[in-house]
Amino acid sequence: MPKKTIHDLTNLQGKKVLIRVDFNLPLDKATGEITNDRRIRGALPTVQYLLDQGAAIIAMSHLGRPKGEATADKNLKMDKIAARFGELLKRPVKKAGDEVIGSESRAAALALKAGEVLLLENLRFDAREQKNDTDFAHAIAAIGDVYVNDAFGTCHNDKDASMVAVPAAMTGKPRVLGFLVAKELEVIEGLMGNPKRPLLAVMGGAKVSDKVKFIHALLAKVDHLLIGGKMTYTFLKAQGVSVGNMQIADEEVAAAKALLPHVGQKITLPVDSLCAKSDDLKATQVFEGPISTGFEGVDIGPKTLAAYATKIKTAGTVIWNGPVGWFEKPAFSNGTKGIAQAMAESSAVTVVGGGETAEAVEQFGFDSKITHVSTGGGAFLAYVEGKKFASLAQIDDR
Ligand code: 3PG
Repeated sequence: MPKKTIHDLTNLQGKKVLIRVDFNLPLDKATGEITNDRRIRGALPTVQYLLDQGAAIIAMSHLGRPKGEATADKNLKMDKIAARFGELLKRPVKKAGDEVIGSESRAAALALKAGEVLLLENLRFDAREQKNDTDFAHAIAAIGDVYVNDAFGTCHNDKDASMVAVPAAMTGKPRVLGFLVAKELEVIEGLMGNPKRPLLAVMGGAKVSDKVKFIHALLAKVDHLLIGGKMTYTFLKAQGVSVGNMQIADEEVAAAKALLPHVGQKITLPVDSLCAKSDDLKATQVFEGPISTGFEGVDIGPKTLAAYATKIKTAGTVIWNGPVGWFEKPAFSNGTKGIAQAMAESSAVTVVGGGETAEAVEQFGFDSKITHVSTGGGAFLAYVEGKKFASLAQIDDR
């Protein structure tokens, strides 16, 4: 059943709109600085639309994974997120008190006027957030007249109060999707429902075990699945091929073994790998087949990149999740950059999901040439896999 969106809202003048956003941004480990703000940029059209309709905005998000308390980790406070949000929105964003929902945040919400924006403290500073706690949810629900879910990256979390118990506590008040979530759902549903074929998936990243279910779901839908990234070596080890010095856990190898019958059928593995000397990662060599002791794989090799790029350019639809190499290091970024470029140059419908993959595409300057770059990581995988989200069930049907 189609869900209502903010376009279905009327008479927002002076209304307090409680909007769940996903401002869980990547932060620099050493300095705590924001390294990528695309999730804020993704929510701006929704926030701007609501402000233009005369609403006041109370935004809320989690940041990182603090375990239910205002930790000593000051980096996870929302102050710098509020500052960046204000810069991008081009109007001040007030930051509520230290308690997610307490006397200060309640007073700030009460005093909020049309056109003003307030951001609550990190939802996960309160242990009740991840227990889908009803009292916590009712306290938050009481400060809003309307609930908007524009947090696609968190939509798969069915125990987060802000995603499920808060809209449940707002039954009777309007509960709708923001533009960002509505677009993500529309694109991914179109993609999986009636894709232009051949439908190709490119999958990278480290762990096979985390993605086994996802890979099985993909195999039922795609025509080809091209593997890259660290998981390549897990598959090679499962085939009994030497992977040099790379350490791979037994459960990872077992997960890959279960998928081996598909290798050479729908699943294609790289034919060559760029490997670096394990001691200082400086000297490199391309291996086809077994990797010598002393080396470890850091990127797909040139032959693999050429073959994958050809497939991408001749596909009808391409979904990509997971970098195919250690792209943060320029010397090992060729594969990931090449895949991003092939997607940008392809006339296929191209969709990228997963935080790191989206960042890579943006870093290499190809994001504007991709049909859709999702803001979801786990949520993207779960939705493509066909999971039903409890958060969406709380949104009013059209
Ligand atoms: C994400 O970054 O994938 C979302 O913000 C969800 O975060 P979580 O995995 O900590 O729930």
